[in-house]
Amino acid sequence: MFSLIEFNEVSFGYDSQPVLHKVSFKVPIGEKHAIVGKTGAGKSTIAKLLLRYYLPWEGRILINGENLGVKQTRQFISYVPQEPYLFAGTIRENIEYGRIGASWSEIEQAAKIADAHDFIQKLPKGYETVLTEEGGGLSGGQRQRIALARAFIKDAPIFLWDEATSSLDTVSEQRIQTIVKSLKDKAVLTIAHRLDSIKEFDMIHVLSDGKIVESGKHEELLEKNGVYAALYRS
Ligand SMILES: Nc1ncnc2c1ncn2[C@@H]1O[C@H](COP(=O)(O)OP(=O)(O)OP(=O)(O)O)[C@@H](O)[C@H]1O
Ligand SMILES: [Mg+2]
Repeated sequence: MFSLIEFNEVSFGYDSQPVLHKVSFKVPIGEKHAIVGKTGAGKSTIAKLLLRYYLPWEGRILINGENLGVKQTRQFISYVPQEPYLFAGTIRENIEYGRIGASWSEIEQAAKIADAHDFIQKLPKGYETVLTEEGGGLSGGQRQRIALARAFIKDAPIFLWDEATSSLDTVSEQRIQTIVKSLKDKAVLTIAHRLDSIKEFDMIHVLSDGKIVESGKHEELLEKNGVYAALYRS
């Protein structure tokens, strides 16, 4: 069976500055993988390459075994960026953007899953609250929850979540991670900062200086007493 996501010896950099070196990993359908590493290690760059914002210098990125074009690639991926993009429009429109034509109840359902429904309802205009560009007036965590609702409503085969470093409170994060863990028949790739939230993942890839230096489950990596263990204890 194909892996939904496959990075094969991918190297890349911005301008002439190398960032990733021969990065290889596969995420099969039904599995949850995480990428961890220090700030600047190249984690978000992996997400951006998967989305084809940039092309690799070397190596291949396959989705479902194929080298897809930009449009098809993005149809395959529900993406929650580290810095959510919200546009000038209502909250309802910002969530619906994940799947134009979604019904009212689907929008509300997605917001509930993303732990956003309660705060939205408390706003004087609720789902009809008009956001300014960049989501002005909302906290970082609220913006991220809207971005999560947008990703949930899209319901694509790949769920790619580039967690913001600190914008979600722990309760929200735990609730949402529980939902993510329950996603079936998808390939989940989470870029995680709080390592406690990914202990039960099928595989954790540790990125250091643009290379994957360790891959394994939480317990295995702790036993190894290497880069992950140091990151976990820090
Ligand atoms: N658009 C860009 N142009 C030039 N350099 C960039 C660009 N985006 C990222 N970089 C550089 O590439 C390296 C990797 O960045 P990346 O955003 O992938 O790191 P990260 O692991 O996601 O970090 P963080 O944990 O802080 O989000 C960094 O040195 C960063 O400064
Ligand atoms: Mg990042």
